[in-house]
Amino acid sequence: MASVLVASNRGPLSYALAADGTLSARRGGGGLVSGLSAALAEQPDALWVCAALSDGDREAVRRGVFEPGVRMLALDPEVYDDAYNGIANSVLWFLHHHLWDVPREPVFDAEFRRRWESYRAYNRSFAEALAEQAAEGAEVLVQDYHLALVPGQLRELRPDLRIAHFTHTPWASPDYLGMLPDDIREELLWGMLGADELGFHTWRWASAFIGGAGIDSAEGVAQGFSPSGDPWRGVHHRREGGPKRSTRVRVHPLGVDADELRSLAHRPEVDERLAALRAEVGDRRTIVRVDRTELSKNVLRGLLAYRELLRERPEWHDRVVHLASAYPSRQDLAVYRAYTASVAELAEEINAEFGTENWRPVLLSVKDDFTRSLAAYRMADVALINPVRDGMNLVAKEIPVVSEAGCALVLSTRAGAYEELRGDALTVSPYDVSETARALHRALTMPPGERAERTKRLAATATALPPQRWFLDQLDALRG
Ligand code: G6P
Repeated sequence: MASVLVASNRGPLSYALAADGTLSARRGGGGLVSGLSAALAEQPDALWVCAALSDGDREAVRRGVFEPGVRMLALDPEVYDDAYNGIANSVLWFLHHHLWDVPREPVFDAEFRRRWESYRAYNRSFAEALAEQAAEGAEVLVQDYHLALVPGQLRELRPDLRIAHFTHTPWASPDYLGMLPDDIREELLWGMLGADELGFHTWRWASAFIGGAGIDSAEGVAQGFSPSGDPWRGVHHRREGGPKRSTRVRVHPLGVDADELRSLAHRPEVDERLAALRAEVGDRRTIVRVDRTELSKNVLRGLLAYRELLRERPEWHDRVVHLASAYPSRQDLAVYRAYTASVAELAEEINAEFGTENWRPVLLSVKDDFTRSLAAYRMADVALINPVRDGMNLVAKEIPVVSEAGCALVLSTRAGAYEELRGDALTVSPYDVSETARALHRALTMPPGERAERTKRLAATATALPPQRWFLDQLDALRG
């Protein structure tokens, strides 16, 4: 039985199945996984429950092979596909990022209802596994929009548990949330309100949640401070004559682990890539961006802004290179494949319009290649982070920590990171291509002293709440 449990769709490791049938486990990259793993290692009897995603994962489940502290759930592949691609990524992701192309989307029909049932079943599998594995009074920390129904389902199964849910995405504004069919919206909210504690990266998303929950479920909204002085807000609620309960809503802005990131960025393979990139870029300035090929990241308008910079200010010709990394993401969905293709196409158009024999204005890598990204971080003069809406955006926090000469940060007002970083960033509306182009020019011409000063402050803010502490703060809040 476990006394602290984490649940997430994507887990800390995945198994690869070799041709000879052997299984090998590989730990996932990224600060969140390593921070959470480190924090969990310090908890007695901790367990991480996650979905089996690869063939190797499913084979590991079939053979009963598990790394200590990890339990994978192998769901029926069709149910999983409907829940993950059909609801989590096509409906909830689009909802919370306000991404629908409204004249055509969303369409809530019989097919949607069928997928929603899969989403509910997928959440229920997690709730049941957690209920089975949790010791009396255990703490359970559920992650993200994939598992929004788990808190409510788990509370019904195990009222003794302390349950937290953390949303890594934004939360839809009440109006946008209202586009969901009423019963589905209520099910989603009641799922979340099954938790004792709800966490978000910023007050902007936390307030959107409270606004939306207030319409249907709340019997009142409260606020206060924890003994350490951290503010919380709360929703009182009562469901169909059940007992009156409260859910506290708090903000835990995830940051990066400076030591870990710097040591990753100085491994020999990163040094090598850096040398190769430097040889390619020469003494030109760099504008760096790193994203999943994700609609919310607004890569296309970023490229349009770069094109406008080159059109309006020919003095930058042959003096700047845009290093863009796009990690292919969710390629099972046609809309993501199409977006990835348009990004590559626009980059090529820009290269065709301005490129010369010696100068490629955009160096785009469409590959999951963190080594290249770290090399690009180190040589960043400017970081471009322009999402239309983003839960946090850790890249905005990583680049200032790693950049060697100090980088000027061009940052969207709609990124979660805006709340903390705006004082030292050049902030832009993600839709305003011309404003973004002007900000790029300002960033490229920022005096080195000012750039270094701003970068130092950005890095200090970015590392204020590294993953391990982020997690322990939530555990403290839940225990408090
Ligand atoms: C966002 C979500 C995460 C998710 C990640 C990658 O950051 O908040 O929960 O894991 O994107 O997306 P994927 O669909 O590849 O897991």
